[in-house]
Amino acid sequence: MELRNMMYEGKAKKVFETDDPNVLVVDYKDDATAFNGLKKGTIVGKGVINNQMSNILMQGLEKRGVPTHFIKELSERQTAVKRVKILPLEVIIRNIAAGSFSKRYGVEEGKVFKQPTIEFSYKNDDLGDPLLNDDHAFALELCTKEELELVKKYAFMVNDYLKEVWKSCGITLVDFKIEFGKTADGTIVLADEISPDTCRLWDSKTNEKLDKDRFRRDLGGVEDAYTEVMKRLRASI
Ligand code: TMP
Repeated sequence: MELRNMMYEGKAKKVFETDDPNVLVVDYKDDATAFNGLKKGTIVGKGVINNQMSNILMQGLEKRGVPTHFIKELSERQTAVKRVKILPLEVIIRNIAAGSFSKRYGVEEGKVFKQPTIEFSYKNDDLGDPLLNDDHAFALELCTKEELELVKKYAFMVNDYLKEVWKSCGITLVDFKIEFGKTADGTIVLADEISPDTCRLWDSKTNEKLDKDRFRRDLGGVEDAYTEVMKRLRASI
């Protein structure tokens, strides 16, 4: 497969077209941002870890019946994926209160929910990714009812799988954000990435943060946390 022009450069990844119109190549960077790009930095080695971790988890999800964009890992930082149109919806599942949920509703971080919650944000940096409900998504014509039902079903399947995987690594899955895309034939697939950038991961014994909150909150030890999570994932599979 041959790489062609760069189609898009995001905050953490570049996306290239290839000689196959249905295949794109994602290239993971070490760049990190937070607070809608206000805070910028580098997490050395993050691109390699996020690429490999996402690929391991997406292959596991495929086996569980969640279709994904994954095709083939090409190198440490590059992966071939199906070309999709990203649904402009950030899908967030929470098992434990943290981050914006704790702030918005005045709930202490660490409160375990009786059942997982799902929420959606409108993927729009200019607007600061505002929260929206199902009817807002339909009013904005972001997706159809059927598509949203499927997205919800897959999101909870992702939660079940990730909770199990991270538990076997001695890690508690607090919450995560995923994105879905639509292939040329209209199939909804899991896209983007699953990594410590997009999940809150706490050590099961100590509750130590092992994710991007170390960068967001200037806690230090960012690279070590990413490396530790990857090491534990490799040991568990
Ligand atoms: P939040 O508590 O800040 O809303 O974050 C919920 C989850 O979503 C958390 O695991 C981090 C992840 N996340 C992203 O992946 N990208 C983002 O831009 C934000 C704000 C959160």
